Amino acid sequence: MSSHKITTPSTVTINTLKQMKKAGEKITCMTAYDASFSNLLDQTGIEVLLVGDSLGMVIQGFNSTLPVTMKQIIYHSRCVAQGRKRALLMVDMPFSSDLTLEETLKNAGRLMKEGGAHIIKLEGGHRQTKAIQALAQSGIPTCGHLGLLPQSVHKQGGYRVQGRDNASAQILLDEAIALEKAGADLLLLECVPATLGTKISQTVQVPVIGIGAGNGCDGQVLVVYDALNITSGKKPGFTKNFMEGAKSIQNAIEKYIDEVKNGTFPSDKHSF
Ligand code: KIV
Repeated sequence: MSSHKITTPSTVTINTLKQMKKAGEKITCMTAYDASFSNLLDQTGIEVLLVGDSLGMVIQGFNSTLPVTMKQIIYHSRCVAQGRKRALLMVDMPFSSDLTLEETLKNAGRLMKEGGAHIIKLEGGHRQTKAIQALAQSGIPTCGHLGLLPQSVHKQGGYRVQGRDNASAQILLDEAIALEKAGADLLLLECVPATLGTKISQTVQVPVIGIGAGNGCDGQVLVVYDALNITSGKKPGFTKNFMEGAKSIQNAIEKYIDEVKNGTFPSDKHSF
């Protein structure tokens, strides 16, 4: 039996997420790419919808996120914006849309204006501090994405767990602190050891959403098709099939929310 109930207010803002962190309530986030899933997820009480550039893989069928364009992400963001009423809408800056400060400001503005985004997610640590500062000054909220950076898959040598040794863990911790100082409103931590996920979440004041970063993070995100076991091929080790034993897609999403809220997902089995 699901104990599912919606705990957050009728409109989720960045302040809601900050209050949730203070109160120790876990934040739930899932990707969405169209109005139907957006509406369904929104009604279950998910706090954050992410229009991720994972759409390059799960919607378009590429083997990386690199081909996704501004035009495509704006299109999907617009679709998701149409379906939501309460959840905060986070949208990815696609690969190479943030190579200069000028381009970053222009493209982030387009995601807000044309895509209906409430917060912009950018991949990278120290290299993004100036951009995050400039965006904050322009009134654009940001989420800094650290750890495994899918847009840097070739630089990182594949989709690998990051921060396994002391030196690289320290770099990630320093980057988290630097991004918060620059004005990031959220952090997203992908594929790092659970101990590091907990340490970073406890060090910074802003909420930290994890994916493959252990259950010590302030919230969790999954790619919706991974959670519904629709994604073909090999699935990442941190994901879980929430359709198993579920009566419907809605019920599976509710199970995800309940397990994140009560701290049973991710378990050790889904962490590094
Ligand atoms: O693009 C995406 O879906 C993401 C998640 C993996 C967090 O960034």
